[in-house]
Order: sequence, then C-alpha cells, then structure tokens
Amino acid sequence: MSFLTNEKLVIVGAGGMIGSNMAQSVLTLGLTPNVCLYDIYEPGLHGVANEIAQCGFPGANITWTTNPEEAFTGAKYIISSGGAPRKEGMTREDLLKGNCKIAAEFGENIKKYCPEVKFVVVIFNPADVTALTALIHSGLKPNQLTSLAALDSTRLQQALALEFGVQQDKVTGAHTYGGHGEQMAVFASQVKIDGKPLTEMNLAADRWESIKHSTVQGGSTIIKLRGRSSFQSPAHNAVKMIEAAMGGEKFTLPAGCYVNNDELGFHNVMMAMPTTIDTTGVHYELPKGTDEEMASLKASYNHLCKMREEIVSLGIIPAVAEWKKDNNNL
Ligand SMILES: NC(=O)c1ccc[n+]([C@@H]2O[C@H](COP(=O)([O-])OP(=O)(O)OC[C@H]3O[C@@H](n4cnc5c(N)ncnc54)[C@H](O)[C@@H]3O)[C@@H](O)[C@H]2O)c1
Repeated sequence: MSFLTNEKLVIVGAGGMIGSNMAQSVLTLGLTPNVCLYDIYEPGLHGVANEIAQCGFPGANITWTTNPEEAFTGAKYIISSGGAPRKEGMTREDLLKGNCKIAAEFGENIKKYCPEVKFVVVIFNPADVTALTALIHSGLKPNQLTSLAALDSTRLQQALALEFGVQQDKVTGAHTYGGHGEQMAVFASQVKIDGKPLTEMNLAADRWESIKHSTVQGGSTIIKLRGRSSFQSPAHNAVKMIEAAMGGEKFTLPAGCYVNNDELGFHNVMMAMPTTIDTTGVHYELPKGTDEEMASLKASYNHLCKMREEIVSLGIIPAVAEWKKDNNNL
C-alpha cells in the first residue's frame, strides 16, 4: 500500500466516535502509515487500537497511548476531536468552558512536545473558540492551525440538492461563514444549482428560510435521529483537511482560520472564511456577499467576540493585548 507521507500523525480523542472513524479513514485513504492514537480514556482507546489493528491495513504502524508526551513527541500532523460532545438540547456553546480548558492544555502539549508540527485540525466544539484557544497556547503560526467548519456548508448543499431534486455535487458555492454555531452566516448569493445562479431559481422566501433552518439545525437533527452527536461527516471532512496539508487534493470548503483584518474590521477571532488548505497551510480570501449576508457575518463575528471575552474572563486565555507573550505569531 502506498502512502502520501510517512510522517507521524496523532489523532487526539481516538477512543471516541469521531476519532475512531478518523483512524480508519486515514488508513483507508493511505495518508500515512504512522498513526498514533491518543485519548485519556484507556479502555475506549485500547478497544479502538485493537479494532484498527484487526482491520489488517498492510504497512500500517499504529501506536496508542494515554501519555501526552509519548503521543505528541515527533508529531508532524495532529487532528483533535478530544473533548466532550453535545447531548440532546445542548448548544455547541454549552460546551465552552470545559472544552476550552482541554484546548488550552492541548495547545500547551503542542508547544512542549512538538513545536515543529506542520499542521493541526481542531474539531471539538465550540470549534472556533477551542481552536483559537489552542492556537494561542501552542505558539503556532495562524496558517498552521484550522478548525472544522465545513459541515455547515455540506448541510446547506444537501438541503439545496433536496429542494431542487439535483445530485448533491451539482450544488456549488453553498457556503456558510463566521461561527460554527447557531449564529453562522449562511450565504446564498454565490450558490449555483447545476450551473444556474440560485438567485435566478425563483426560490420562495419561506423555502429559503426553511433551508437555512435545516442547515443551522443540521447537527441537532443528527442528535435527535441517532441519539448522539454526528461523527461520520466530521471524521471524513477533518481527514480530508489533513490530507490537503499533507500534499493531497486541496481542501476548498470553508475552514476555520485566524482572522485579524482591518479591511473587514474583524480582529483576533477564529472563524470560517472562504479558504484553501494545501501544503502551505490554511489561507483565506475576503468573502463576497450581499449587504444582508455581510451583516449576518458581522453578527456572527460579534457573537464569536463575546465567546472569546467569556473565556478571557474565565482565565482560560489572556486578554488580547497579552497574546504575544504566549504566541509571538499573533
Ligand atoms: N466541528 C464539527 O463540525 C463537529 C461535528 C461533530 C462533533 N464535534 C465535536 O467533536 C467532539 C468529539 O465528538 P465525539 O462524537 O467523537 O465524542 P466522543 O465522546 O465519542 O469522543 C470524545 C473523546 O475525547 C476524549 N477526550 C476527552 N477529553 C480529552 C482530553 N483532554 N484529551 C484527549 N482526549 C480527550 C474522550 O475520552 C473521548 O474518547 C465533541 O466536542 C463534538 O461536539 C464537532
């Protein structure tokens, strides 16, 4: 079996649903044979390590450990879903405090054990705020760390494909930007349905509202249907993000990236933008949209600033003016 790279990939949270699916996808897609599975919950992790070994992937060199030093040392790529998931009735924001503490420790482990890591994907929610926390504490450059935000866009794409009865990949440009939470900004103006602009499809206002609603509520719908938080689509997309950083196909769905931009007037947040991930990391362009869409992006940005200030007040990250002490790249 041939692999894209031989460099070490660490999957954090590997004992959980997303982590275990990622371990399998990474080997199925042939990204790297050197996969280290890390979790704090030994029995779950041990079970996943056994399962992956028992898949029998040729050439795979799977290690597993509950020791962060052993896991992070020598890591060149890291994907982390290691944090608590939502239960029915919870919002992503309800996870803020506990998961941001985990994110701070995650960033510190990177700084301590693998400052030479190339690229990191943060999945655990609220992903934009946990990723920002990890970025500050890790000391990495902003283009080296991203958060998984793509599912809002693939949910919008699915809803539009169902509405117009077309194959899902015939819907292009269906993107959401800003926060990965109830306050995301859903952009319609760049969408095309089988090549035709959505704006020329005579979509009734109430249908558009219902599509937006199913996009924003996409994650909650999975929790209601399956009795647990989604895991297949996050696992797949996070692995595709790391594949792009390793030199595979570029990843062009919106990804979380650090934004500090005078032209937009958005400062010191991690948010979903029009992005590309390749071997040089994650890079964004300015979003294009109607005045209404840009206003909803601004509202989403304001919500992210509020969550950022909440974790500043909890002492999980320092105030913005102090960030350079932890991370000179910010
Ligand atoms: N960004 C997205 O689009 C998206 C989508 C779905 C779920 N999520 C989030 O991903 C996270 C994981 O979801 P899941 O379904 O895999 O949950 P899960 O409970 O099945 O797995 C989480 C794993 O993380 C481990 N863990 C907890 N604290 C840890 C730590 N400090 N270090 C290492 N590992 C730790 C747990 O032991 C567990 O095995 C949740 O926060 C969930 O909300 C994000």
